[in-house]
Amino acid sequence: MPATSVIGLQWGDEAKGKVVDLLTEKHDIVVRYQGGNNAGHTVKFDGKTYKLSLLPTGILQSHVKSVIAPGVVVNPHAVLKELDGLAAGGQDCSGRLMISDRAHVICPWHLLEEAALEKSRGAAAIGTTMRGIGTCYRDKVGRSHAIRVGDLINRDAFASKVCEIVRFKQIILNSLNPDGEQMNADAIIADYAAAADRIRPMVADSTNYLLDALDNGKWLLFEGAQGSLLDVDHGTFPYVTSSNSSGCGIHSGSGVPEREIKKMIGVVKAYTTRVGGGPFPSELDNEIGQRIRIAGNEFGTVTGRPRRCGWLDAVATRYGARISGVDSIAIALLDVLSGFDELFICEAYDIDGRVTRDFPSRCEDLAAAKPVLRRVPGWQEDITGITKFADLPASAQQYVNDVKKLVGKPVELVSVGPDRSQTIRM
Ligand code: IMP
Repeated sequence: MPATSVIGLQWGDEAKGKVVDLLTEKHDIVVRYQGGNNAGHTVKFDGKTYKLSLLPTGILQSHVKSVIAPGVVVNPHAVLKELDGLAAGGQDCSGRLMISDRAHVICPWHLLEEAALEKSRGAAAIGTTMRGIGTCYRDKVGRSHAIRVGDLINRDAFASKVCEIVRFKQIILNSLNPDGEQMNADAIIADYAAAADRIRPMVADSTNYLLDALDNGKWLLFEGAQGSLLDVDHGTFPYVTSSNSSGCGIHSGSGVPEREIKKMIGVVKAYTTRVGGGPFPSELDNEIGQRIRIAGNEFGTVTGRPRRCGWLDAVATRYGARISGVDSIAIALLDVLSGFDELFICEAYDIDGRVTRDFPSRCEDLAAAKPVLRRVPGWQEDITGITKFADLPASAQQYVNDVKKLVGKPVELVSVGPDRSQTIRM
């Protein structure tokens, strides 16, 4: 397929990285088009494990160009830290990375403001990753105090913008937190100028590059970060990230028209997890949730926070699949559910006595939703070595078929372990 996308259909951490990795072989360019270093994925390459956050998963493949498109918010220090980490492992990937000059830059005030704002929300805190993502997107939309990568690599433009913005932001920061840090514009300019010197060779107009690549028959793979339910417009607002993390963000974030995407694959974890605040109807705040957390190693790649775990929420996932418009789904981490006598799938919500399969638009309604659970038999066998659907225990096959029916999309593959080989293609 000339252009394919991989989108998370839940609240992020669906193991999209593995699916992207499986598809990368056949593609020439991998594109990140939204989010920033709030995302996290673990990539195994040549026997070593690398943790990536901002860099596209394809970065380790020598035949692939990795693109950070305009819709991403870029912390230049995070880019360099990840590239340096790869180089230390023997993988010098900087020549394969392109960063859009239109992407926006995360600056120190974004992190300071986010910390102060989250603190001021008290119990209603969003539980953000504290990477300055939301505050950077806010300044982008607000336009007055925004810096793009194209400004960052222009020393004079960058210095004058920083001086002006620091004066303004310090007033806000002092009122939010009178005992807080005082920023030093000169130190910020020097610090970012050093990073800019290193990233300058990677900066380009990625939009033209991608459109030309399509004209020239190259194959593009769009790698979604976070998940559809964290989408700022369509997700569980305000407990969302600040970008369009559903399929809706591909065009706006990359500049590549939607009609060019010939195939969209949605990644679904065999259960559900969530990090940070916000309603989660099928959450298991009990021993079963803890068992899934341990079996699935459900701890944040970026922040290390334990993820909240629950039964597969098919209402939420179906909604994610519909708004993202995926053609098929990949079910990940099915092996984590081995060893349970019985399993449950949330097939509807009971909201104040009204049973519905529609995902509510108001967070308050989602918070009031009680899960209507379908009981399905579990399986005891270790399935991590199975590569054919017919070899799965009958109840695991039933589970996959139930997910297919409830989510309403064909299943393209099932992952039963982190390795590429641990994949059942349907
Ligand atoms: P932010 O993206 O740092 O602003 O955080 C907003 C919300 O999105 C918080 O609940 C985060 O935990 C969540 N979030 C952000 N990135 C990810 C991710 O990659 N996986 C799962 N949750 C995420």
